[in-house]
Amino acid sequence: MESSQFDLILKNGQVLLPDGWATVSIGITNGKICAIGPLDNAKAEKTIQCEGLHVLPGLIDTQVHFREPGAEHKETLATGLQSAALGGITGVFEMPNTSPLTLTPELIFDKMSRADKHPWVDYAFYLGGCKQNAEKLSEYENAPGICGIKVFMGASTGDLLAASDEEIDMVLKNGRRIVAVHAEDEFIMQENKKTILGDSTDVSLHCKWRSVESCLNATKRVVAIAKKYKRRVHILHVTTKDEMDFFREQKNEHITVEVLANHLTLFAPDCYEKLGSLSQQNPPIREKEHQDALWKAIADGTVDMVASDHAPHTLEEKAKPYPLSPSGTPGVQTLLPIMLHHVNQGKLTLERLVELMCYNPIKIHGIKDRSKIEIGSQATFTIVDMNKRDVISSADQATKSEWTPFDGMETQGWPVVTMIRGHVVMYEGKLSHQTVGLPIQFQETKM
Ligand code: DOR
Repeated sequence: MESSQFDLILKNGQVLLPDGWATVSIGITNGKICAIGPLDNAKAEKTIQCEGLHVLPGLIDTQVHFREPGAEHKETLATGLQSAALGGITGVFEMPNTSPLTLTPELIFDKMSRADKHPWVDYAFYLGGCKQNAEKLSEYENAPGICGIKVFMGASTGDLLAASDEEIDMVLKNGRRIVAVHAEDEFIMQENKKTILGDSTDVSLHCKWRSVESCLNATKRVVAIAKKYKRRVHILHVTTKDEMDFFREQKNEHITVEVLANHLTLFAPDCYEKLGSLSQQNPPIREKEHQDALWKAIADGTVDMVASDHAPHTLEEKAKPYPLSPSGTPGVQTLLPIMLHHVNQGKLTLERLVELMCYNPIKIHGIKDRSKIEIGSQATFTIVDMNKRDVISSADQATKSEWTPFDGMETQGWPVVTMIRGHVVMYEGKLSHQTVGLPIQFQETKM
């Protein structure tokens, strides 16, 4: 093997192998890992020197909103997927609150065809779940490209909503795939909007009327219904200490938990004072005590995934007076730099980050075509330089919305190569001309 010929060698990186870190080289041919070792005498058409770099299995952003079809002025699949590649992300799960809502396999197929025109990275799509399509979900859910079913219990951007127990029940009893849940209680929020927000235009009230109680109540309701049907539910973007305490008591393999980089990094009231409605998102950014609880839940294993919830809106839309300003921030390109900065600050280990952004998505969503770094597996990698320092800047963002809430923040730890099946898609911040992304494959789908 040592004198073999490969298409590509990743030379002497710190590689995260299934049993831990090793300084090794990786030989790649036809998009697959063919050899792992010193490879001192091996030849290759191309070699990438990885001394001083960490080679990770390809990281996935499991929650993004790319706005196509319907709101292409904010983002397209092309610009969203490009932003992912620039951010060291090798695959994305995209959300169904586009227009029209993604409620049928035909509309999933439409998104797949659109993504296939500019496939900067691999992609999969959530199918929306609500009253209109609930009875069809068992039939629809295994179509190619579907990563799971998405339910909004509280209104956010778009019209997708399953607010009542009856509607949630209808979705959960039909089908077997994982159901990802936006858990904010619509009824509590509607009441709070009258009593707490009233006519105020103060954006710092966003985390008051979209309350802790509304999140906890929605989470408890959906977990109770999921238990009845033994259905797997993935509670998205958890923001409260109270829900983390609940998960510690209740969690089993049927219940998984996501947190967002924004909630781990920004906190109230500071973010509303500094960023105003640029930090407005749903569920909202909350006070430091909640952020501390999210970090504790990352440390003790309660959290299963970290994602961006990339939700671009234009600066013009964001400048509308609150609460007319829409909720959400871009994030797919900054997710990894922000999380690597947290690694450098000692908030979590790089191995734990890989678990949250690669191993757990593979396991929980049953991804078929990805694995740990081992011989025979896909040569899809995120390569990072943990020493590189740079300043996050709105001007560098590929998102059509052209901004980031982290503009001006200096971070340490940056992605330097995004590689998909042996193709270099991004190298030191520059995109290649070739796009090679494909639909992500799942154990449960037909492809
Ligand atoms: O803040 C948010 N924005 N939260 C969501 O759940 C949806 C998202 C969007 O699509 O804008």
